[in-house]
Amino acid sequence: MSEATPVDGIQARVDELISRMTPAEKAGQLTQYFYFRLPAGAAPEPALGMDPDAQPRMVEEALGRGEVGSLLFVTDPVEINRLQRLGLAGNRLGIPLLFGFDVIHGLRTIFPVPIAMAASWDLETIERGQAIAAREARAVGIHWAFAPMVDIARDPRWGRIIEGAGEDPFLGAAVAVAQVRGFQGADIGQHDRIIAGPKHFVGYGAALGGRDYDEVSLSDAELWNTYFPPFNAAVEAGAGNVMTAYMDLNGIPASGTRWLFTEVLRDAWAFSGFVVSDANAVRNLVTHGFAADLTDAAARAISAGVDMEMAISDPAYAHLPEALQTGAVSEAALDAAARRILEMKVRLGLFDNPYVDEDRARVVLGDPEHREVARVAAERSAVLLRNEGDLLPLDVETLTSVAVIGPLADSRRDTLGPWVFDFDLDETVTVFDGIRRKVGSRVQVDFAAGIRVAQRVFASMFDMFGGNRPEDAPGFDEEAEFRRAVDLASSADVAVVVAGEWQNMIGEAASRSSLELPGRQLELLQAVVGTGTPTVLLVMNGRPVDLRWAAENVPAILDIWYPGSQGGAAVSNLLFGEVSPGGKLPFSWPRTVGQVPFVYSHTRSHEPDNQARRYWDEPSTPLFPFGHGLSYGKFSYSDLALDRASIPTDASVTVSVEVTNTSDREAAEVVQLYLHQRHGSASRPVRELKGFQRVTLPAHASERVQFTIGPDQRRYWSTSARNWVLDSSTFDVWIGGSSTAELTTTFETAD
Ligand code: NOJ
Repeated sequence: MSEATPVDGIQARVDELISRMTPAEKAGQLTQYFYFRLPAGAAPEPALGMDPDAQPRMVEEALGRGEVGSLLFVTDPVEINRLQRLGLAGNRLGIPLLFGFDVIHGLRTIFPVPIAMAASWDLETIERGQAIAAREARAVGIHWAFAPMVDIARDPRWGRIIEGAGEDPFLGAAVAVAQVRGFQGADIGQHDRIIAGPKHFVGYGAALGGRDYDEVSLSDAELWNTYFPPFNAAVEAGAGNVMTAYMDLNGIPASGTRWLFTEVLRDAWAFSGFVVSDANAVRNLVTHGFAADLTDAAARAISAGVDMEMAISDPAYAHLPEALQTGAVSEAALDAAARRILEMKVRLGLFDNPYVDEDRARVVLGDPEHREVARVAAERSAVLLRNEGDLLPLDVETLTSVAVIGPLADSRRDTLGPWVFDFDLDETVTVFDGIRRKVGSRVQVDFAAGIRVAQRVFASMFDMFGGNRPEDAPGFDEEAEFRRAVDLASSADVAVVVAGEWQNMIGEAASRSSLELPGRQLELLQAVVGTGTPTVLLVMNGRPVDLRWAAENVPAILDIWYPGSQGGAAVSNLLFGEVSPGGKLPFSWPRTVGQVPFVYSHTRSHEPDNQARRYWDEPSTPLFPFGHGLSYGKFSYSDLALDRASIPTDASVTVSVEVTNTSDREAAEVVQLYLHQRHGSASRPVRELKGFQRVTLPAHASERVQFTIGPDQRRYWSTSARNWVLDSSTFDVWIGGSSTAELTTTFETAD
């Protein structure tokens, strides 16, 4: 939080404002409106629940009455200044507007999608990426990101797995902290920082059947041990905001659950920022069949601890004055919420500086340095899943021709991924562009889409923004194009096939019932491999897809995710060995959708020896384990050592290992530490990640990597105690390059 204005000064200023505000004005401060004009000619979107022109009209009227606290979805600095002027003119107390936006993986410079950034296991790169996103956002007048999404996701049918850091709470917490730091820096009052809003509190990723928005049932142990930790870490890192979740959690809409926002967030974790509802989630307390009407919904939400309502249409919080009159809401609750919003506006410096410099915005958005960081991030996030016979890296000296195949290989929009709105397609580098630019003058590089783009059965709500729905080139003849692709592949030295999901098939409201490659992508891949030309598969994705055939038949598979603005440049650097892939999977990659939800950190069961044979028709092991990722280097682990084999229960042990790059080239490796508690007050997971470090080692270099395993890494919430416990027990430790690491040692703890 800002140190710029002394706390006493902030409070005095806020108290003075509160003392002069009417209940309607306070309720206005607690209301955030969407504001968007759809592109000309766009079809009215039923999800808006209203005529699209009525939406901006309603907001501008509320601005004129001085009853708006915040707006979202505006990214043009000129428009932001216009709306700020309207707001200030309508607000008799001169309270400025706060602008929020989904700054998920960049604003103009688009970074790899969040699951990809997590796959880098590179906390500095993650922090740097969000710092650049913050710089660009603040430059256009955005003060607050609805990010990071820190929901643990263990079921890849759920499309929003792409927005988080995957299945693991330890990795999830570390990535959450890096993102909060990146957005907020040391002081949100600085001109290049914005508020971070970890979301969605809580459990959203555990949607029943992976179906977005469906109900969630989670035990207290699962909440405390798995779903809460990234939020707790983000709050400890100083996040200024937390967003609620849409769905029912254990039978109560999460957005109306007082236990979450008051007892956990504020009382247990001392959260001092403000809570915002997800879009329309306060109104929807009525839709869920929980609140009786909008007044009841508003009263329940604010009493639960939801300070601000994000509203698409008529806000429930407009009924707060009425709820105050009937006594359903206390003045103290209204004031406390209004105080939190006003404090944030003071800390951001908005009272002194409400407008944005439109000229500077253009310069910041065009900063070439930002694109460079995005390229490096894309290089570091890629995960080499398979590399039989060291097909990769390709040798540009001996190649004469490359066939680049698949519709995704030259789709700028898909290279960026979902959850971006302010991108520049002209500067987006596709895989085909990247390869051509890198080797084009020396090597013949040809492209064939080969097949039609695949389509969703049910349209995406994001299709209303132009260009989001994929389209074939005009006059596309699929049979001729398929033949051309196979011919190109058979006459090339190497084929590079890009396959995955189109970007509107993943993200919010983008769950699926299967994990197969959509459309005819597998058939195309099989035909290309069938030519006998050595084939590299680049997977463009935000969740695991069914790669069972590829994992046996395609020699090299590189997961490039949706790599962002500079994606193609990064991918070509990886393909031709300028850099080595060093990313690791942030989730267990299932063989088939029938395995999900799926985690490496399951408990032992009464029959651990049969863990791989839980199904009779398919191994129940992952296709690629959590933490897996190959390299062009080769790493060996040796000399695992503990400083003590036996320690007091509340003490720490230090463990270290020698990591050697035995290859002839520099490469990065993510050294991972896993822990297992053998006995105690609960059955504990077979392994849990408890430490990691990404290290870069020159050829033939060694490094001793050290970890501390303290009580915090061994404490867990136990159903036996209905509380946190720290058992005296025996612990197994593994260190290695994935969750299947074999180098192991043991220590004991005793009172
Ligand atoms: C709904 C999504 O659930 C949330 O993550 C997002 O921030 C808001 N819409 C605003 O776009």
